[in-house]
Amino acid sequence: MQPGTFLSLSCLLISLLHLSTGVSSVNEFSRDDFPPGFVFGSGTSAYQVEGAANEDGRTPSIWDTFAHAVYAHEHNVDVAADEYHKYKEDVQLMVETGLDAYKFSISWSRLIPNGRGPVNPKGLQYYNNLINELIRHGIQPHVTMNHFDHPQALEDEYGGWVSRNIIRDFTAYADVCFREFGDRVLYWTTVNEPNVFALGGYDSGEEPPQRCSPPFGVVNCSKGNSTSEPYLVVHHILLAHASAVNLYRKQYKDKQHGFVGLSIYTMGLLPETDTKEDIIASQRVHDFYVGWIMDPLVYGDYPKIMKKNVGSRIPSFTNLESKQVKGSFDFLGVIYYLNVNVKDNPESLKMKQRDPQTDVAAKITFSADLSSDDELPITPWALQGVLEKFKQQYGNPPIFVFENGQRTKRNSSLEDFGRLTYLHGNIGGVLDALRNGSNTRGYLQWSFIDVFELLSGYASSYGLYYVDLDDPDLKRYPKLSAHWYSRFLKGGSISGVGPIELEKNLSALSAAHLFH
Ligand SMILES: *[C@@H]1O[C@H](CO)[C@@H](O)[C@H](O)[C@H]1NC(C)=O
Ligand SMILES: *[C@@H]1O[C@H](CO)[C@@H](O)[C@H](O)[C@H]1NC(C)=O
Ligand SMILES: *[C@@H]1O[C@H](CO)[C@@H](O)[C@H](O)[C@H]1NC(C)=O
Ligand SMILES: *[C@@H]1O[C@H](CO)[C@@H](O)[C@H](O)[C@H]1NC(C)=O
Ligand SMILES: *[C@@H]1O[C@H](CO)[C@@H](O)[C@H](O)[C@H]1NC(C)=O
Repeated sequence: MQPGTFLSLSCLLISLLHLSTGVSSVNEFSRDDFPPGFVFGSGTSAYQVEGAANEDGRTPSIWDTFAHAVYAHEHNVDVAADEYHKYKEDVQLMVETGLDAYKFSISWSRLIPNGRGPVNPKGLQYYNNLINELIRHGIQPHVTMNHFDHPQALEDEYGGWVSRNIIRDFTAYADVCFREFGDRVLYWTTVNEPNVFALGGYDSGEEPPQRCSPPFGVVNCSKGNSTSEPYLVVHHILLAHASAVNLYRKQYKDKQHGFVGLSIYTMGLLPETDTKEDIIASQRVHDFYVGWIMDPLVYGDYPKIMKKNVGSRIPSFTNLESKQVKGSFDFLGVIYYLNVNVKDNPESLKMKQRDPQTDVAAKITFSADLSSDDELPITPWALQGVLEKFKQQYGNPPIFVFENGQRTKRNSSLEDFGRLTYLHGNIGGVLDALRNGSNTRGYLQWSFIDVFELLSGYASSYGLYYVDLDDPDLKRYPKLSAHWYSRFLKGGSISGVGPIELEKNLSALSAAHLFH
């Protein structure tokens, strides 16, 4: 990486402003085209960015255990981008970029080292410092409580999310978060991508906690059950989420006036052919990946087709649980990167033993290899379609696009045209969805700086800022996309725009549509 290369970026930028990408039906737009109060930001997550893994009382999460085994040869995962020590510098970059919001997560095992019990004062101090630094600079914190990284202590003690015990411990953890930070944090996400977490960690076993069973695991797992645990884990996540939301509404909402949601991994679903079978299969894939979470949240139960195909392996909600889960959100975090092709595959239902990927009876082909470092295809219509689907199927709930971004090889050029083209296209897709009535409230690009990527370690990256891992100081350098995003964010008239407006509308909307 030649630090000199970015000196030429500003010249490039001038010509870029006139570039038309031709990838979205909305090509020419500025921030002014978005509703007042629409939030633009960027995000990271605790394990991926903080470092300081063994400092100040933090204990390992399941990701520490996994990364030490799998990514031992890469840049020290215990250091990551060292945001723990460099948060002031990073917030300064956010200010220069012009972000309205920063989405980050709290490391549960930093705040409560044993998963439950005493709070770690140093952990408390770090998150207070980060939150205060953001607020001081007018940047809205969006905080996730569990981004794949529950404490190893709870995994060892009772198996983490496979046990109902975690509902109690997660609720106690959420209580600490609300109590300590809720006077300044208005946007809480309980759990990140339960669908991906369950499939990666409990079906294929490629991701921590690496539980799976033959013949389904793509690795050799020492424990697990791919046919039932993914369903059990999502069930417990939904109950823990609902429990945290109910706690917030009972004890904190009146004083703190914040909002609690959950984030979901989504994909654009394209039937492989226009046959009825493939079209129905696409809806089925939606039900298995998104309906799995959304149907309980909106209707109080899993989709019919899931219950039919999975049978007794999917847990049932009691009437009380169903009531608690239904309506237990103020907004949803939609995470979108790419589209997939879907082909009907009824044969898979004939297998004697089935996992979620055979239960769905469809063959899914990703438009890019998820674990490579190739750039992702740019398909803004797919993001628009995802947002449209939430509007039509789930009563148009408030949504934040919580992750969306382009992958490049980590140390490739700072002139990341592919990234800004991707962002331009997809922000245009959001605008198209908004113009057709979507209730999307914000767009938070992934990721702010280059982080430790959960699917590829340090091989690929999504950051607006390059982090030089060969420099002991881990210096950050803006990529062209950082300049582009900054221009876009500062280009519109933003007078009178802010969280207050959004807050009012969210409350009005929640009252009207969400709590039946
Ligand atoms: C799993 O273990 C078996 C037997 O030790 C071995 O043959 C196989 O290659 C392993 N599979 C993976 C994916 O590591
Ligand atoms: C997995 O769970 C299912 C449903 O509880 C059970 O029938 C099956 O025997 C279990 N399989 C293994 C490998 O433990
Ligand atoms: C980028 O990293 C790869 C592997 O980590 C290495 O082979 C390559 O030479 C690096 N490229 C640059 C420009 O530093
Ligand atoms: C726009 O919204 C209408 C009403 O919900 C829907 O029928 C139509 O398909 C949507 N158009 C697009 C392009 O999504
Ligand atoms: C918020 O609601 C008010 C009144 O209902 C409306 O005038 C305004 O346009 C809304 N703002 C947004 C961002 O939706």
